[in-house]
Amino acid sequence: MAVSRQELEAALQELTKALEGFASQAGVTPDQLEAFRVQYVGRSGKVTERLKSLKDLSMDDKRELGPKLQQLKGLFDSAIGAKQRALEAEQDAKTLSDSGIDLTLPGFPSPRGRVHPLTQVLDEMGRILGLMGFSWAEGPFAETDYHNFTALNIPEHHPARDMHDTFYLKEFPLVLRTHTSPVQIRTMEARKPPLRIICPGRVFRHEAVDATHSAVFHQVEGLAVDESIGFADLKGTLSDFMKRLLGSDTKIRFRPSYFPFTEPSTEVDVTCFFCKQKGCPACKHTGWIELLGAGVVNPNVLRAVGYDPEKWSGFAFGIGVERIAMLRLGVRDIRLFYENDLRFLEQFDENLV
Ligand code: FA5
Repeated sequence: MAVSRQELEAALQELTKALEGFASQAGVTPDQLEAFRVQYVGRSGKVTERLKSLKDLSMDDKRELGPKLQQLKGLFDSAIGAKQRALEAEQDAKTLSDSGIDLTLPGFPSPRGRVHPLTQVLDEMGRILGLMGFSWAEGPFAETDYHNFTALNIPEHHPARDMHDTFYLKEFPLVLRTHTSPVQIRTMEARKPPLRIICPGRVFRHEAVDATHSAVFHQVEGLAVDESIGFADLKGTLSDFMKRLLGSDTKIRFRPSYFPFTEPSTEVDVTCFFCKQKGCPACKHTGWIELLGAGVVNPNVLRAVGYDPEKWSGFAFGIGVERIAMLRLGVRDIRLFYENDLRFLEQFDENLV
């Protein structure tokens, strides 16, 4: 049945009144609410029918009355929704009061977990080195003798193997990696230069444990390979990194050292955080704490992974994470990190680092 514009306008007024009446009505039962919904916005409801009848109007009338009807439909929907929610809230309140639960009683606090302090420090190191352009790489704990030693210019029977107290696995030639440097080899084998990577991870040494030595500890390896990279780049990168990590007043010293996989090699120490260089057990009364080994990548290592040492050069470093964590968090004994004593661990909230 065709509908005229006048009829629709009248209907609009009538529907608006019906809506106002409904909205101001106080207690509505669920049945009344459903009946109202069906009557007005159900499949053959009054509003729905009016919307359908828009098609009989002229283009101009449609343009004018269409949006008004749509808006009215929206108002119906939200009024019905509001009543629905009010009914549900009423129902919930009744269920609660029937059940005798007292919501005003205090709850039981559940203990909050924390990120382990070592992980916090590791994440912070990764974040800073990430900002400096290094991306993350990973490798296995059980490593081949070739990746852990031979490819790093430490052939079998070379005395430098004695620098690492190695755990040999029954499944020879596997060892528990003694440092994160094998990840350098794995990454270079898989990728072409130039590259800048860090490899954070756990390493294992059969070592006597004391305040600064553990048999299981963590290192962050860094490696940059490009054309004409040299020792100055290494020094600049490490100085910048240490300042960002430990504060600009930390003093750093570069000591000449020896690693078969770098030439020249250096060990980097920082001033002892605890005694301010007066001498204490943590620094073995030297005033300095050794943090890392580093150097310019030995050409033999580049050759082992198929890089041309005439074209490419690089620097590498391996940082002891526990030593950094001790400095950052004021922990005097490395063993505390592994004893899982909650009284110790609970002191380190995430915002400490
Ligand atoms: C290495 O492991 C070399 N792979 C580092 C390296 C990488 C040199 C790349 C050159 C180029 P070293 O054995 O010195 O070096 O160990 C590096 C750091 O690990 C040390 O400076 C120290 O901070 C930490 N570290 C070594 N042994 C222990 C240990 N037993 N407990 C805790 N931290 C340790």
